Amino acid sequence: MDGTPPSLKLKARKLGPITSGCVKESVAEPISAAMHTESVRALIDATGPVPRVPIELPATAPASGHEALHLEAPYLEALVEYAARQPGRFHVPGHKGGIGASPRLAHLLGDGLALDIPLCIEGIDIGVEPTPLQRAEFLAARTWGARRTWFLVNGASQASHVACLALAQTGGRVVVQRNVHISTVHGLVLSGLRPVFATPQLDLELGITHCLEPGALAARLDETPDAVAAFVVSPTYFGAAADVRGLAAVCHERGVPLIVDEAWGAHLRFHERLPEDALAAGADLVISGTHKLIGSLTQSAMLHLGARSWPQLDEGLLSRTLGLVSSTSPSSLLLGSLDGARAHVAADGGRLIARALAEMDELKSAIRAIDGLDVLDERIVGRHGIRAYDPLRLAIDVRHAPCDGPALATALLHIADINLELIAQHVLIAHVGIAEPIREHGLRLVDALQQALTSITPSNAGEAGAAGDAGEAGDVGFGGSHAGDAGGVGVVGEVGCRLVAPAFGDPVMAPREAFFAAHQRVSLEDAAGRVCADSIVVYPPGIANVLPGERFTPQLCAYLSEMQARGCCLKGTWDAAAGTVRVLADDPGS
Ligand SMILES: Cc1ncc(COP(=O)(O)O)c(C=O)c1O
Repeated sequence: MDGTPPSLKLKARKLGPITSGCVKESVAEPISAAMHTESVRALIDATGPVPRVPIELPATAPASGHEALHLEAPYLEALVEYAARQPGRFHVPGHKGGIGASPRLAHLLGDGLALDIPLCIEGIDIGVEPTPLQRAEFLAARTWGARRTWFLVNGASQASHVACLALAQTGGRVVVQRNVHISTVHGLVLSGLRPVFATPQLDLELGITHCLEPGALAARLDETPDAVAAFVVSPTYFGAAADVRGLAAVCHERGVPLIVDEAWGAHLRFHERLPEDALAAGADLVISGTHKLIGSLTQSAMLHLGARSWPQLDEGLLSRTLGLVSSTSPSSLLLGSLDGARAHVAADGGRLIARALAEMDELKSAIRAIDGLDVLDERIVGRHGIRAYDPLRLAIDVRHAPCDGPALATALLHIADINLELIAQHVLIAHVGIAEPIREHGLRLVDALQQALTSITPSNAGEAGAAGDAGEAGDVGFGGSHAGDAGGVGVVGEVGCRLVAPAFGDPVMAPREAFFAAHQRVSLEDAAGRVCADSIVVYPPGIANVLPGERFTPQLCAYLSEMQARGCCLKGTWDAAAGTVRVLADDPGS
């Protein structure tokens, strides 16, 4: 037995000459060590950009020219060829293509383990250039209309870290949308960048914040003449897309690049009913959470560089910076999944999304027909910086239901083992992928929603959710589920029976300084007026309520205590059970 699964026993490929040595221990920039070489540039010149709405090719159509190139998955194919030729695997990982893996793991993951290889394998990421890995990244750049694309194996979070670290070379300030994802805050801590926050207006009706308006960004940039970039989020977790064109124009008129966290928008480019994607709208650096909607593996992501040149976002600088926050052993499975997902959407994205949209329209109508429920949709366009809405987001509005979001989510879990992406007071997000049978899966959701709402009445709503058994509430998604990160909550008290988060405290120092400063541990009660040393986040929805360097207000302390009492998960506390947090020992204001 040679350990190679039969399905991978393809014809072995003749290797090209070894043109570059690679000493594994000295690999500093594992994936994309430098700027594109001449051979990759030649490849770039030989192909045209993929149109925003790709031509649909029937599965059997003979592909030719640059279409054929886009249908290829060169890196994934190179992995398969490697596995198939039964190589001498005198390299990591120790499971040696699966034969040395635990039998249970081998049984569960099957053939995939044979594709799990390290960097520096001839004919895959080293050797004759362009290597399959270079070609794969290049094809991704072509597909998304980028000047350069990097494959990432530590999520969209890694892209934020790279962007912040690259910008930090200037030592300047950066204008940052306040309701950015926590990964951007971590990037600020890592890099030491000094953020000037721009906070979108709170949508009091929904209790969430949406997108930054170009005028608000312009005002912030004008107050911050030494800003080296602006950092915004679009679309938000809730599907609201910003006026990225307007934001880019505001930035470019002031001589700074626009960075867009498009973690929820890798699919936008592939259908005209979707909001315009950030690169097409003029963004200069785009963070893409490829795994979220288009089917690459969890933790895989991409970073796209736009057409304009900026010294603070120079291609070589970004490549080198990526090396600082990359493993020297990136998972070939994750990289291969990016290549495969790219080929899939390039070939078939338009058709898949058209079908998903049609089925999603039906599903939304079915949910709207349930008494007490609505769904967010294009009607929110025009509010608080929202330029467009992603119709593939399924955000269920529960404001008129007899119970709040957590209570309904608890019921869905118990009734039909339905696990949601995000559970908030007013909104539940049921996530879909572009190639998912939405009609079929949606039936289960609609059925469970109907059953849940029949069983919950205003009088027993508390028992069904967070206000009831705190242990259960924790299981449902406050702490226990992947109820993600997201659109931000401003906060001012109660709307009806629902708690809404209070305004953010004043920033008094840069996140990095606060994070590493001498600290004390105090109870939430005693934290009022003190400067926070961590990012404190209520899950859901996961936008930092307090950042390192921001002052706790009494309202924030009360809100965080109340959310904890309701069974929500507070991340970033010192000791969640004891309700203690880290504050600065010495107040910079005193
Ligand atoms: C807006 C936004 N940016 C970045 C991220 C981080 O993505 P990842 O989990 O791929 O690191 C998330 C995660 O949900 C997000 O919502």
